[in-house]
Amino acid sequence: MPLGNLNYDHPIRVAEGIYWVGVHEPEEKLHCNAYLVVDGEQAVVIDSGSRPSFAGVMMKILEVGVHPDQITGLIYQHYDPDLCGSIPNFLDLCGHPGLRIYSFASNNIFLQHYVERSRHSLLVDLESVGERLTLQTRSLQTVPTPYTHAAGSFVTFDDLTRTLFTGDLFGSFSSQWNLFLDLNEECFTCTEYRNCPRHAGYCPIPEFLEFHRRVMPCNKALHRAVDIVKGLAAEILAPQHGSVIRRTKDLAFCLAQLGKLQDVGVDGLK
Ligand SMILES: [Fe+2]
Ligand SMILES: [Fe+2]
Repeated sequence: MPLGNLNYDHPIRVAEGIYWVGVHEPEEKLHCNAYLVVDGEQAVVIDSGSRPSFAGVMMKILEVGVHPDQITGLIYQHYDPDLCGSIPNFLDLCGHPGLRIYSFASNNIFLQHYVERSRHSLLVDLESVGERLTLQTRSLQTVPTPYTHAAGSFVTFDDLTRTLFTGDLFGSFSSQWNLFLDLNEECFTCTEYRNCPRHAGYCPIPEFLEFHRRVMPCNKALHRAVDIVKGLAAEILAPQHGSVIRRTKDLAFCLAQLGKLQDVGVDGLK
């Protein structure tokens, strides 16, 4: 389907058993991507979204055909309100006895403030489960990427589809948002992103780079995380903001750009 024909009022398949279930708000400059992983009778939500986005996210989950009681895991790749504000809503609606909230301990000390004290046992430190969630036919491996931007930030790799959920890494501000990144051949050699030689109008690259300069703490943290991501050899990058990167050339280009990005966070302070 041509990218322009995607209907963001409905869930969108990203890979086998993986759906974008975020909320598209054209007036917002920062889009939040929630993802649903469906595996047989079981489902896991990754970075479920803010409290105001809950109704939209849940409607899409239902539209995929997943009942709330099938959700057994909520994964939070860090603890910002844009990705975990809806934890109370999910806990109220999802009745699976095995439902757990998965993150690392350094995130859970903040995530627990979204959960009634009597239910704190639902919070699981990923280290205690071998940094891996095993579903029926696939396994979600979590890999720490410290300080991108939270101390406990991590990425989540689905071995079946080689999709890597990257949290804020590979995110973007997006004044013109599309779910899938679609760079032109000329973009790979262009050096005038703010003044497109093709006069193509909106170029997503400046906002992609600016997002990392403003959100990530320093050059070292970003470059280290990019090296970790390179080592995972993912085929699809699914960030919490901005666009899904799934074409080989786009993926290599974005890795290269972030791998050499300077003036990130405090390193950009004059
Ligand atoms: Fe964040
Ligand atoms: Fe975020």
